[in-house]
Amino acid sequence: MTEQLYLTLNNQLQIPQVGLGVYQINGDAATERAVSAALKLGYRHIDTAHAYQNERGVGQAIKHSGLDREEVWITSKLWPSDYGRTVTPEAIDKMLARLQTDYLDLLLLHQQIGDYLGAWQAMEEAVRAGKVRAIGLSNFDGPRLDAVLAQATIKPAVMQVELHPYYQQQALKEKLAPYGTRLESWYPLGHGDRQLIAEPVFTQLAAKYNKSNVQIILRWHLQKGHIVFPKTTNPQHMADNLAVFDFKLTPAEMAAIDALDKHQRYFTMPLAEQETAFANFRPAD
Ligand SMILES: NC(=O)c1ccc[n+]([C@@H]2O[C@H](COP(=O)([O-])OP(=O)(O)OC[C@H]3O[C@@H](n4cnc5c(N)ncnc54)[C@H](OP(=O)(O)O)[C@@H]3O)[C@@H](O)[C@H]2O)c1
Repeated sequence: MTEQLYLTLNNQLQIPQVGLGVYQINGDAATERAVSAALKLGYRHIDTAHAYQNERGVGQAIKHSGLDREEVWITSKLWPSDYGRTVTPEAIDKMLARLQTDYLDLLLLHQQIGDYLGAWQAMEEAVRAGKVRAIGLSNFDGPRLDAVLAQATIKPAVMQVELHPYYQQQALKEKLAPYGTRLESWYPLGHGDRQLIAEPVFTQLAAKYNKSNVQIILRWHLQKGHIVFPKTTNPQHMADNLAVFDFKLTPAEMAAIDALDKHQRYFTMPLAEQETAFANFRPAD
């Protein structure tokens, strides 16, 4: 079984730096199969969300794994339909029930719309009540991020955003550095974009280290200090994505990958459109 590497968050909790993301794994049965396979391979960190509609599958897999609850890091995310000082507490309790656990390791606000300030307050209370160990944000930037940072008595432990070699988020990193907020990468492999994965620099380094191009990308993320949870249901890919702790890129090789930054996102929906699109979606309980 592969050794995990742990990072320390700004509240001193230790998070496994590599996890499995379960976005677009459809349904609880498929999710339970994928998470069970991952846990057998040594994964100890699962990233899900209410909006993925597969938290029950995550909970089942962990329950049947034979592992103690404390051995597995569970992250989930609240959808804006559950934001608000009065509605968020009940949403957290329902989430815990779906996941068959009495605490979350990390709870995030999934999107920067709706009553996110009320929801943040409720998440802080959930930390004090022992229902959540760490709280953070996803997809926040600009004035809405500033508003949370100004109000927060518990500063975000993580910020989960689109982050990969074509979109490296340097400005956000600098902004969050004073808070000790770690960056979590979504689309760490560009959502599987073949052009990104086939970049010649990855092919050259893959040959040098006897690794795949994807493993070179993941290794770059790890050395940048990013938390990653590439998504796959393919057992070989799952194993490969965890086999990234036995080699190290040199500073020059890291710089060559840094030079790929095009400040180019894959997800480009403007905030005004997100307001409508996300407000119209309400995940089932
Ligand atoms: N907070 C947010 O708003 C947000 C948004 C998007 C995603 N996320 C999180 O980030 C996670 C990862 O994002 P993502 O799944 O969209 O993108 P991703 O991890 O960048 O890419 C997934 C794609 O990469 C392929 N892949 C994975 N491992 C591979 C390997 N070893 N070799 C070759 N191909 C490989 C997968 O194909 P195969 O299935 O064939 O392996 C899949 O097509 C999600 O599951 C979710 O937890 C969060």
